[in-house]
Amino acid sequence: MGLLDGKVAIITGSGGGIGRQHALAFVKEGAKVVINDVGGDRAGTGTNARAADQVVQEIKARGGQAAANFDSVSTTAGAEGIVNTAVKAFGRLDILVNNAGILRDKTLLKMEDELWDSVIAVHLRGTFACTKAAANVMKEQGTGGRIINTTSVAGLIGNFGQANYGAAKAGIYGFTRVAALELIKYGITVNAIAPLAITRMTEDLPWAKAEGVKEQLDPKHISPIVVYLASDLAKDINGKIIGVQGRMLNAFVMKTTSGVTRETGEWTPQEIAQNIEKIFGE
Ligand code: NAI
Repeated sequence: MGLLDGKVAIITGSGGGIGRQHALAFVKEGAKVVINDVGGDRAGTGTNARAADQVVQEIKARGGQAAANFDSVSTTAGAEGIVNTAVKAFGRLDILVNNAGILRDKTLLKMEDELWDSVIAVHLRGTFACTKAAANVMKEQGTGGRIINTTSVAGLIGNFGQANYGAAKAGIYGFTRVAALELIKYGITVNAIAPLAITRMTEDLPWAKAEGVKEQLDPKHISPIVVYLASDLAKDINGKIIGVQGRMLNAFVMKTTSGVTRETGEWTPQEIAQNIEKIFGE
């Protein structure tokens, strides 16, 4: 018995990297999967059906069930095409993993509009478009669902040179929180992971080349938490952001400080300056 027996899952961007590992892990637990991928390069340039097709073949060779889809997540038509592939191939949809992503790093003052727009389109718009299309089908089915988004430390904490990517990933954090509140009434949970793994996205970073890192941060370590979130084991987990770096799992929690409240009147900027440490808190 698998944890995902009888479930149908879409994993966007699963023609390689972390998404491919999710797909293999899902199939191992009994799910039927849609392998969606445009097959472009790391920056999202070009298309190639081979990426998705190869993963489908790999899954079929292992006796699993998979269907390929080559639409881009970043348009409404693309997102609907991905969801339709699941419904046509397997008759239903239970799980969506929003994983597709591109990278177009530049420091802020060198950031061109196109670099900004394309990264926001794939990550943030793509997460919205696929979630909306999938949640409509899940609502219609009436048997709940699971949506797992992919955010990043780059957005949750910040990372030099990634204003576009960080903004998109922080947007996915906010989107996850709101979607979790709105969709739970249909039995659909929405959570996010913030992974760290060596893939083509990270392999050329200096720390990625240190000894042992490739094994420690193998993308296979990312998928168990996604299988968990997709399964009945996580039916009460909603609106959470889980970090996964190799074998380490933790949670990202937005906190407020106790702050300072004036008894009467309005703050002056000088008084704010005097209280700034209390405002920021311990
Ligand atoms: P990857 O580049 O190996 O995989 C991303 C996949 O998404 C590629 O196969 C690509 O063709 C596909 N894709 C790109 N644009 C698409 C579109 N418009 N429609 C459909 N598919 C599209 O990168 P990796 O590392 O596997 O990334 C997976 C996710 O994890 C991304 O959302 C990334 O931002 C996120 N992430 C990865 C980290 C890491 O350490 N590798 C760190 C934090 C977040």
